[in-house]
Amino acid sequence: MMMAAKAHHIAQAASSISIHDVSHSYGGRGGGQVMLALDRINLDVGDCEFHCLLGPSGCGKSTLLYLIGGFIPVQAGVIATAKGPVSGPGPDRSIVFQNFALFPWKTVKDNVLYGLKKAGFDAGEREKRAQDYIDLVHLTGFENAYPSQLSGGMQQRAAIARTLAVDPGILLMDEPFGALDAQTRRVMQEELRAIWRRSRKTVVFVTHDVHEAVFLADRISIMSARPGRIEHVIDVDLPKDRGEEILEDPRFIQFSERIWRLVREQAVAATRGAH
Ligand SMILES: Nc1ncnc2c1ncn2[C@@H]1O[C@H](COP(=O)(O)OP(=O)(O)O)[C@@H](O)[C@H]1O
Ligand SMILES: [Mg+2]
Repeated sequence: MMMAAKAHHIAQAASSISIHDVSHSYGGRGGGQVMLALDRINLDVGDCEFHCLLGPSGCGKSTLLYLIGGFIPVQAGVIATAKGPVSGPGPDRSIVFQNFALFPWKTVKDNVLYGLKKAGFDAGEREKRAQDYIDLVHLTGFENAYPSQLSGGMQQRAAIARTLAVDPGILLMDEPFGALDAQTRRVMQEELRAIWRRSRKTVVFVTHDVHEAVFLADRISIMSARPGRIEHVIDVDLPKDRGEEILEDPRFIQFSERIWRLVREQAVAATRGAH
């Protein structure tokens, strides 16, 4: 019985993620108020799927992402990848934060090399990989530039190169384009989808932007306001090879409106709940 129950929690495919009855609370120690941030989250993300978590600010999106990453311990329920239950960070999962998290005193190339060294690649392999991924994110020619010499979009591409270079099966992204201007953000969304199609990763991408989610995702989870629950999981029924032109397509516009209504319901519920 025990064995069967355990096997159920181990995700089957190479880079899938299984989240089973995961709740999370903050506070409580030292007499502080316990606050439920996530309430019984159940979600399966398939191998090579691009999954967006969409929900109002404070609903627990980052918390869920950090739990998958193993950066904060799972308190209740189980999160599993093909490697078994998540009990800490691992080389199969890496994260891109909203603030670019590059070392300002290292060049683009040295930033990428650092991640590879930490992941244990040997020197020759590190050089080759660093260049390959710098090329992949279109930063060829900027290897020796320092972050301060780059635009926000270029810094974020360097951060993505550093994360992708170590070849994690699972890429976790926490509003990675939140700090970029609208124009750069759009270019980065297009590039990310193209990179994802080439590199075949499983992506969990957190955003509160409906258009960003619809443009990027295969599936979208819509979360409720705090305590975060998954209210809807919706397949994005748009062409896989979509590019910028999809933004004008009536199917994109209608689908975005449908998602927007569902998100709005959660926002309205949150306002009522606050009284
Ligand atoms: N380290 C923490 N200690 C206490 N409360 C926290 C902590 N991190 C997040 N929270 C609270 O948990 C809730 C969910 O936060 P978060 O996961 O950051 O939401 P989101 O990313 O959707 O905005 C929020 O109410 C937030 O204030
Ligand atoms: Mg957040």
